[in-house]
Amino acid sequence: MFPAKAITLVTTVGALLSGASAWAQAAPPFRSLKGNPAAGEKVFAQCRACHVTDKGVNRVGPSLHGIVGRKAGTVPGYNYSTANKNSGVTWTPEVLYVYLENPRKFMPGTKMAFAGLRNPQQRADVIAYLQQFR
Ligand code: HEC
Repeated sequence: MFPAKAITLVTTVGALLSGASAWAQAAPPFRSLKGNPAAGEKVFAQCRACHVTDKGVNRVGPSLHGIVGRKAGTVPGYNYSTANKNSGVTWTPEVLYVYLENPRKFMPGTKMAFAGLRNPQQRADVIAYLQQFR
């Protein structure tokens, strides 16, 4: 009996540990990543359907000129959802990193119909790209 139980225990602990490390890999802290603006420009192709980085140019989504560090819902002339407008969020790199993984989870009620960027490095890259437009 004992050896069988021991094997079960080892298997369970092993499964828990590998599960935990898979989760940790899925979400490394933003500060541990270095964004590459050139790679981010390629990632931004996914945003370009709805956003441009030109100042004052709103499309389906608001202009992303100067987005990094800005208060949410403040681009003049853009008709935001109340969820975005009243979120009280400031788009720091750290906040964008979480938001862009799953926008509708971060901000329930947003009208941004975008599933999100699952890849943490792609998020860091696109943030580095956006940081250039200020
Ligand atoms: C299908 C269209 C679409 C795509 C694709 C899209 N967005 Fe958006 N985005 C929107 C809309 C619409 C809003 C306004 C949301 C609201 O008012 O609820 C928005 C809002 C935002 C905001 C908040 C702006 C503010 O002024 O508060 C950020 C930041 C943002 N998007 C970044 C991105 C990035 C980065 C990408 C690509 C990785 C992306 N979006 C892809 C449509 C899109």
